[in-house]
Parts: sequence; structure tokens; C-alpha cells
Amino acid sequence: MSVGVPVLDADHKTLIGLINNLHRSVGDDEEYATLGSVLKALEDYASHHFAREERVMEACRYPSVSTHGRMHGRLAAQVTALKVSYDNDRTTVRAKECLDFLHKWLIEHICSTDMDYRSWVVGHADAASAAESVSLTGQRPDAVGLDWKSLRVLVVDDNQNFCQVMRTILEGVGISDIRTAADVATAKAALQGTGLDMVVSDWHVGKDSGLDLVAWIRRQSQLEKLPVLMLSGHERVASRDVALNAGADEFMEKPISARGLLICLAKLMRKRREG
Ligand SMILES: [Fe+2]
Ligand SMILES: [Fe+2]
Repeated sequence: MSVGVPVLDADHKTLIGLINNLHRSVGDDEEYATLGSVLKALEDYASHHFAREERVMEACRYPSVSTHGRMHGRLAAQVTALKVSYDNDRTTVRAKECLDFLHKWLIEHICSTDMDYRSWVVGHADAASAAESVSLTGQRPDAVGLDWKSLRVLVVDDNQNFCQVMRTILEGVGISDIRTAADVATAKAALQGTGLDMVVSDWHVGKDSGLDLVAWIRRQSQLEKLPVLMLSGHERVASRDVALNAGADEFMEKPISARGLLICLAKLMRKRREG
């Protein structure tokens, strides 16, 4: 199913991963946090990927770029409509037909329409650089000295569906060392073992408190400067000030956006590098 440009193939893998996350998140105990995050991520990735693909098609002088671009426009509008309707009424998107429609349309587009440009872009000298010139965070990672591939991240969250959404987003930028912990004891054991560069922790981790974990991290001399991003799906009890006072570096509310998450992690990576 390769279109001949590795960066675009990786985007397709992320989009398909998010569609799978979408199906799994329907009916989740914390559905708004998980399904809401997947829909936001799908909206971010769809518009990002379409822009990137159109840049590659233009660079390779693909003759049907405008027709293909119009299809992208319709697909992006469909994803946005789904997210808006979910925001307005959370029962609407649960409809299986709605998800099946999106699934069918996106998968068909990737497997069929995208294959039409393959012979124009495969092996083309400008294809890879055109693809890499469009970044989800608005900054080319190499231009700002970010190396996502070497980042080692621990995600602390008792919700397996949310961990899976995080994994899809993080793998989408090339991170391969992603560990998860469903309770604070497991998180502490992971932190005492092999080196980690970043922790993303939920506010409530099952019966445990993410705030206690952050406070514990700050008491460990070797982890004192480890960047920690705190998340919460319970906006009434959580607040940015409380998270930062406990020792977290950043705070985000669920549902998260993929773009917002990556911009935040990039900021924490830069902060860590600058010491
Ligand atoms: Fe595509
Ligand atoms: Fe496409």
C-alpha cells in the first residue's frame, strides 16, 4: 500500500491508526477524553497530511493535483463536521454508520485515489524534501534541532484507549520508545529503570494521584529536571496552577489536540536541552 514516499506512507499509517482508535473509543468509560482526543487528532492529521500530499504532488508536477485536492477538501470537511457534531451532541458520533462512512471514505482514498499519483512521485528527486517541508507543528524538526526519534516517553494513564491514542500520535512523529503505566507504582518502577526523557501523566491514575507522582519525581535527585506534562479530563477539579505547583512543567486538558500536544512536547524538549 506504499505511495512511494516514506513520509506520506507514515502519515497514512497514523491516519489508519487513529481510525482504529476512533472505533475503540466509542463507549469508553471516559469517552469524551478519548473519543474527543481522537477526533481532534484526526482533524489535525487529515488537514496536515492533505497539505503535505498536495505539496508533494505539486513538486512532482502531478497533473491531477487540483482534482485530488478537491477530494481532500471534502474529506477534511467531513472530519470537521463529525467533530463539530460530536462537540454539539456527544451521542451523534456514536452511530456506527457515521464511523463506517468515515472509515470507508478515508481508507478508500488512501488505498485507491492516492495510488494514482504513485508513478509520478516515486523516485522523484523533490518528493522527500517537499513532504518534509510541511510539519504538523509548523516547524521542521531538523530546523529547530528536535530529534523525535530518540525521545523516550512514559505515558501514565489507567485508560488503555487513551494510552493507545497517545501511542498513535507519538509514533506518528517517529517516537518508538513509548512506555505506559496504568498505576503510580508501575510508573515509579519505570522511572527508576532505564532512562526516560519525558513523562506525560494523567491527573487521576486509577485510584492513584498523578500529582503525588510528580511530587515524588521532584524529590528524586536524578529525576529533578525530567520534563513532566500533566493532563486532566476533569476540568472542575484540575487546574494548571495546582499542576505546576506540584512540580509539573506543563498542563493540558483532555480532549487534547495532536498538534497542541506535539507543540507542548517540543517546547519541553527544548527546555530540557537548554538545561
Ligand atoms: Fe494520502
Ligand atoms: Fe490524498
